[in-house]
Amino acid sequence: MAEPLVVVSNRGPVGFRRDADGELATVRGAGGLVTALRPLVDRGDVTWVASAMDDTERELAAAGAREERSAAGTLFRLRLVAHDPEAYRLFYGVVANPVLWFVQHGLWALKDDPDADLAAPWENGYVAANRAVADAAVSELDRAPHATLYVQDYHLYLVPAFVRAMRPEARIAFFVHIPWVGPGDWAVLPAEISRAIHEGVLACDSVGFHTERWRSAFVASCEALLGRGDDAERRSHANPIAVDTAEFDELAASDAVRARRAELQAERPEILVLRVDRTDPSKNAVRGFQAFGRLLEREPALRGRIALLALLDPSRQEIPEYVDYRLATEEAAAAVNGRFGTDDWLPVRLDVRDDFLASVAAYVEYDVLLINPVMDGLNLVAKEAPLVNGRDGVLVLSREAGAFAELDEWAIGVDPLDVDGQAEALARAITLPPGERRARLEGIRSRVRAHDVDAWAARELEELEARAPSGA
Ligand code: F6P
Repeated sequence: MAEPLVVVSNRGPVGFRRDADGELATVRGAGGLVTALRPLVDRGDVTWVASAMDDTERELAAAGAREERSAAGTLFRLRLVAHDPEAYRLFYGVVANPVLWFVQHGLWALKDDPDADLAAPWENGYVAANRAVADAAVSELDRAPHATLYVQDYHLYLVPAFVRAMRPEARIAFFVHIPWVGPGDWAVLPAEISRAIHEGVLACDSVGFHTERWRSAFVASCEALLGRGDDAERRSHANPIAVDTAEFDELAASDAVRARRAELQAERPEILVLRVDRTDPSKNAVRGFQAFGRLLEREPALRGRIALLALLDPSRQEIPEYVDYRLATEEAAAAVNGRFGTDDWLPVRLDVRDDFLASVAAYVEYDVLLINPVMDGLNLVAKEAPLVNGRDGVLVLSREAGAFAELDEWAIGVDPLDVDGQAEALARAITLPPGERRARLEGIRSRVRAHDVDAWAARELEELEARAPSGA
């Protein structure tokens, strides 16, 4: 039996909705973090503490912890935390996204109110929500005193320090799923907020990042802000999150995905360029569409033979900056189509909805996969899609995505702000000789299979074991 684990994240591994008849339905929890952590549940003895996202979930939270079953059938305990709705809005919609997200993805310039007073949303939103989650985590630790607390991501930077103050002997690990930036980038925030964030994370025994680059930035910013670089060095490690390879193999072979592939094949052009993202400014879809337009401009022979299929999951649409970026994305696609499209050829096929099976079908069918984020903690699509691709597809990958550190040998690297460079990279990807395409795809696959989600989870637990004080 595995050691007890209390996972803490903002979004839970399952979501709950009421259908038209008021019946409760569960939905697969969305997002990379939840997908990657789900296999941890199947180790057994897991409690998951997560925020209630809406009225339905707040109502469930009030009824106490629930027993849920993972896709593989393992039972786990789910403890939903009900926040006051206004506090949650300030926490999620004003502080975590956009402020922390933008600071940590080099997007601060996109925020049009950099002087806005953060003090009240910070205190009444971020601090309040972190405190509520920490209280719930402590009561779960009291049920299972030897459990490890495993806290996730930028929503919950303060939880470790709050828990440490209440339970000094707790074993606490943290994983940061987004980029960490250097002291200069943190300087756009009030110093007391940046310091609280760094102190919060340093209250852990072990802190994981996807790459050595983000880990080094953490050490540098801990040194600059708190004079605790050595402490950060001792506690941190890089361990890129991974894919449940068996799940993707099964999905790709499933009838549901086959049916979606048949639909795609019926209307696909000769060359299919694919992108699969959330409609998030950090994902850089607008420059991706512009680059595709430049490709069509410089290679007229491709017109009519190629299409860019963009499957974008609408994300954080309660936050104005994200709505604006989704609209800009739609305009950029329309601009390319207006300029180059004909009655029987649509160059950019933009589909804004959450349709996981359609994404997996497109993973099998692409010839070129374009992933060009401005910055990205890792980018799981860069691992998932090549795993199941059936056409020796070529990966064009931003050098600013964490996954580039693992896959650079086999990907065509691009600078996310360089639109012409991305057009050139697309042209190169299309003309690579077949043997080289195959070799590059095989290289990515063997890396993804060698460092799969089990290897990732084992390393996380080893790091914690090595760092937590003995006897804790
Ligand atoms: O680490 C980034 C992350 O937390 C991932 O889980 C996921 O890609 C995304 O952000 C989900 O965001 P949200 O919970 O706001 O939909």
